[in-house]
Amino acid sequence: MQPDQSPPAVDLPPVDLPPVELEAGPVRLRAWRPTDVDDAWTAFQDERMRRWGGLLVDSREDAVAWLDRRLRPAPDRLNWAVVDAATGVLVGSVNLHAVDLVEGQAMVGYWTAPAARGRGLAAHAVDTACRRLFDTTPVDRIELCHAIANPASGRVAEKAGFTWEGRLRRSHRYGGGPKLDQFLWARLADDPAPLLG
Ligand SMILES: CC(C)(COP(=O)(O)OP(=O)(O)OC[C@H]1O[C@@H](n2cnc3c(N)ncnc32)[C@H](O)[C@@H]1OP(=O)(O)O)[C@@H](O)C(=O)NCCC(=O)NCCS
Repeated sequence: MQPDQSPPAVDLPPVDLPPVELEAGPVRLRAWRPTDVDDAWTAFQDERMRRWGGLLVDSREDAVAWLDRRLRPAPDRLNWAVVDAATGVLVGSVNLHAVDLVEGQAMVGYWTAPAARGRGLAAHAVDTACRRLFDTTPVDRIELCHAIANPASGRVAEKAGFTWEGRLRRSHRYGGGPKLDQFLWARLADDPAPLLG
């Protein structure tokens, strides 16, 4: 192709917004609701969330603003609240962001409320969100980054079927702190599905 020629038009399916509800083993992924604000605000006050969540949520007002952004559709982002499948209690969050249907790429982000950690919920939520994107769009690569000092997040990546690809030096400023090195993981649409209990 000559440099001044446009790329051929591609017939792309729309990203399905708002996010559809998805079953994910012990959890369910659903759209955020305004009534989630107090549970989200409680989770944001946890030390690990403040350190690694990458969010500047210092007050309930900040939590309202955070939630407001999750309630509005965005062209390149899908946000889900993660709730316990049996009780409906909010246990976390998973999102797909920087969704680029032309390049076929996206990134995944997540957190689990402190009381719900260590039960495999984040891995189930991440796996289900990724499979949804692979099944409904041309995205065939999803990236996941975490600070190297946050190994629990790396374990989530591994359990959710991601492959470690390297170290991104001084690549992200968590919560306004100094820029930190991160590990980069990726999952491809045709990678083997993880075996989650
Ligand atoms: C990271 C986080 C999402 C994990 O949530 P979770 O629901 O407990 O995740 P899972 O139960 O699916 O998996 C956690 C795994 O990490 C392991 N783990 C926990 N702490 C660990 C540590 N310090 N070092 C190594 N592994 C650790 C757990 O044992 C578990 O692995 P296992 O099932 O093999 O035992 C949660 O701790 C969190 O929300 N942290 C704060 C926000 C955050 O870090 N978000 C990710 C930003 S990239």
